[in-house]
Amino acid sequence: MAKPKKRYVCQACGSVSHRWQGQCADCAEWNTLVEDAPATVFSLKHDLSSGGRAVEFVDLDKPGELPVRQKTGLAEFDRALGGGLVPGSAILMGGDPGIGKSTLLLQAAAKVAREGHGVVYVSGEEAAGQVRMRAARLGLSDAPVKLAAATGVRDILTTLGRMDAPKLLVIDSIQTMHSDTIEGAPGTVSQVRGCAFELIRYAKETGVALVLVGHVTKDGSIAGPRVLEHMVDVVMSFEGERSHQYRILRALKNRFGAVDEIGVFAMEGDGLEEVDNPSLLFLSGREQPMAGSAVFPAMEGTRPVLVEIQALIVRLQSGATPRRAVVGWDTGRLAMLLAVLESRCGLSFSSAEVYLNVAGGYRLSDPAADLAVAAALVSALADKALPSRSAWLGEVSLAGEVRPVAHGGVRLREAAKLGFDRGFGPPDAKNGSAELEYVGVGQLANLVDRVMSS
Ligand code: TYD
Ligand code: MG
Repeated sequence: MAKPKKRYVCQACGSVSHRWQGQCADCAEWNTLVEDAPATVFSLKHDLSSGGRAVEFVDLDKPGELPVRQKTGLAEFDRALGGGLVPGSAILMGGDPGIGKSTLLLQAAAKVAREGHGVVYVSGEEAAGQVRMRAARLGLSDAPVKLAAATGVRDILTTLGRMDAPKLLVIDSIQTMHSDTIEGAPGTVSQVRGCAFELIRYAKETGVALVLVGHVTKDGSIAGPRVLEHMVDVVMSFEGERSHQYRILRALKNRFGAVDEIGVFAMEGDGLEEVDNPSLLFLSGREQPMAGSAVFPAMEGTRPVLVEIQALIVRLQSGATPRRAVVGWDTGRLAMLLAVLESRCGLSFSSAEVYLNVAGGYRLSDPAADLAVAAALVSALADKALPSRSAWLGEVSLAGEVRPVAHGGVRLREAAKLGFDRGFGPPDAKNGSAELEYVGVGQLANLVDRVMSS
């Protein structure tokens, strides 16, 4: 028999090559090609149009047979899932190491188990004792979760086959799983794909909701082939800065719900706490109005979240090139706003260092934050605080006009709810709240005059 040809699979994009190369020819990533098990050669000499079993057709409308979602009891998790766990679905949970994936899933597992449902938690990363220690710290030791430290998919599926199927099965993580029918070390593309395939098949057959934890690579994508993302029903990402308390659970793909819903948590000493009013988290510690600080009502999916934008301007004496440093916003957009402020409003930042920070480790990409950033910059430059309890929103054009933004009303209502009494934004935006005075700002120059003359 001919020796099977070697094949190399890119760990980033899953493309196959028959020669090892330093750079993947498809996605141009470096050092991602890894030798993989030889491909099975399928024979096409058989005619596939006979000899199979009949496939059963069903109507789209079959009342009473729709799967009922299982609430985890963690409202923020359920919200991000689109209303709870769908039986027989597979969820891939990605996130940086140490961000709290295991903590979140152990908490959810305990909640479901306490409701009287079967829950199995398989850890391939930690010994049972370590998971038990975490459970004790979280005050969950009494929850009837079936815990196992295992990495062999055959052992796991054999064991599950001998007991009543649980409602929830957590595999932490898919990169540590190993199938003895596939060559290669755990974590390689073929192992990850093969193990996920077997586990997902078990979930679909038994109606178990399956959660696979997935490691994330440096650039933020889930390690292993993109094909894993195609295989599962829901892809979630657990995000946040490790040095900050808050965590956001986001659905990147959801076959059963909207992808713009998020869940917000805070990592505390005793586990993840649900945050049902995120604005309070990001605005805490902001009592006195300060120069260089402006509040922006951001949107996270359908939910408004108020965040604080801080600017600091340092005048330079020497002719050194001034620094521009940005945390949580786009550097290119900051450069654009500075250019507009210089050329349309007559301000000069050329001999000053500019630092911009979105408080709380929050990341903004919404152009609606332009006006708030501009307000923070002007306020820092003039060393004058903006009116207290005011919120700012609007996109700024290159001509210096303030443009309308989506969800203006919702954003302003959230601001009013949190005690803000003035909103600044594009002239024609609707003010959704009676308690909030709305001030239309047509041109960035109006804002500058206002701040400078206050
Ligand atoms: P973990 O869930 O192990 O992260 P992941 O599974 O995503 O790698 O979370 C580990 C971090 O969370 C660890 O750095 C400590 C912190 N932590 C708390 O702050 N409070 C807690 O109650 C727990 C359990 C963890
Ligand atoms: Mg973990």
